[in-house]
Amino acid sequence: MNENNLHIEICPSILPADFSRLGSELEALEEAGADRIHWDIMDGNFVPNLTIGPDTVASCRKNVEIPFEAHLMVEDPDLLSPMFIEAGCELIMVHVESVRHLDRTLNVILNSGAKAGVTLNPSTPIESITNVLHLVDQVLIMSVNPGFGGQKYLPSQEDKIKVLRNIITERDLSIHIEIDGGINENTIGQATKAGANVFVAGSAVFNHPNGPARAIQDLRKIASSA
Ligand code: DX5
Ligand code: ZN
Repeated sequence: MNENNLHIEICPSILPADFSRLGSELEALEEAGADRIHWDIMDGNFVPNLTIGPDTVASCRKNVEIPFEAHLMVEDPDLLSPMFIEAGCELIMVHVESVRHLDRTLNVILNSGAKAGVTLNPSTPIESITNVLHLVDQVLIMSVNPGFGGQKYLPSQEDKIKVLRNIITERDLSIHIEIDGGINENTIGQATKAGANVFVAGSAVFNHPNGPARAIQDLRKIASSA
């Protein structure tokens, strides 16, 4: 176990996947030991990139058993959340920066039977979510500016993770802290020490010379002993 005694989960992002064979790519990730699939949903407005919609997620639901989490990088999560829940996502993560009534948005997700999460861009303070922590299963801390994979990890986010982990402990909440962006063998240890326990990895998994299973194994090993 790591020094914070946290349960470690590795969630590959689908962004680097070969979208012409997405179903078998997911099967390979499940086979390789992925804990969840991290769907990066981008609408070309909230972030300068456009990825996939709920129908693509729904078509892949039958390929694997592991949970789907949707990272909504969209201008209108209230419109899209129900569609991704319907498509088979167990956890819906909403960017704080993309909603006006966050408490209501999260309650709508919960009332639909899914788990809710909030996501913070690098410049967004923890204070923006302290009044909704009782509603969420997970907080996603962006360690890159969202929109693309393969970017450089921002160590500045570790202080935010430390503050958040202390608040969770003080309030005796059971909330996962997930970190997303530039997570690889060189950065996962320090992110774990800061208090993260769920890790999104795109390039580190898809570009590993020895394949996704070895990548996931190495990441899990480093985080578990951090
Ligand atoms: C960026 C996405 C991340 C990204 C991670 O907007 O939210 O999930 O795909 O990719 P890597 O692990 O390559 O930084
Ligand atoms: Zn993501």
